[in-house]
Amino acid sequence: MDQQAQRNTEEPNIEDPFSPSDQGDRSLERDLEASLALQAENLTAILLDQIDEAITHYPISKRSAALPLLHLWQNHFGFIDESGIEWIARRLDLNSIAILELVTFYPWFRQKAPGKTIIRVCRTLSCAMAGSYEVHEKFCKSTGIDPCLEGHHGMPTSPDKKFSVEFVECLGSCGSAPVCLVNQDLAERVSLEDAEAIIKKYS
Ligand code: FES
Repeated sequence: MDQQAQRNTEEPNIEDPFSPSDQGDRSLERDLEASLALQAENLTAILLDQIDEAITHYPISKRSAALPLLHLWQNHFGFIDESGIEWIARRLDLNSIAILELVTFYPWFRQKAPGKTIIRVCRTLSCAMAGSYEVHEKFCKSTGIDPCLEGHHGMPTSPDKKFSVEFVECLGSCGSAPVCLVNQDLAERVSLEDAEAIIKKYS
């Protein structure tokens, strides 16, 4: 065997287009493209109009539209998953990491679907002193939520997916503490009995 032939049998062919790692990369790429296509199908004309309109507010740099787009996306889908991050990045001609950084920096943005009813309990001073920690505990116990279950970007959610409960900071109604936001409705002076009634009402 000449020297060249020997090298060919000994050295791995790193250009092999069908090597396992290349196949893995392509499979991931295909999954992402399929997911993006599905996402595009789910985008309603209204949402696309809202996105286009939001971008017009930032004529100098489209990048500045990233936060408004993330809000629009989360309002529409309830959370922002990987394909959403990728879609927004492509729409703004950015790398997806630039969008991922925003999603993981701001606690408001979620990467997992929340429960049907989202209960936000204020834990800032006035509410904390008026018993909001006990109210939060009551919500969690009544819905079967383990408050430690999820991390920063997945809200603790009940096993039946009906409720998510989280602490938030001041909701701007300190005079009627403790205060909760149930979806978009403000609940004031919430007692433990009120918490139970809220769970019943939204179950
Ligand atoms: S401290 Fe709870 S609403 Fe302000």
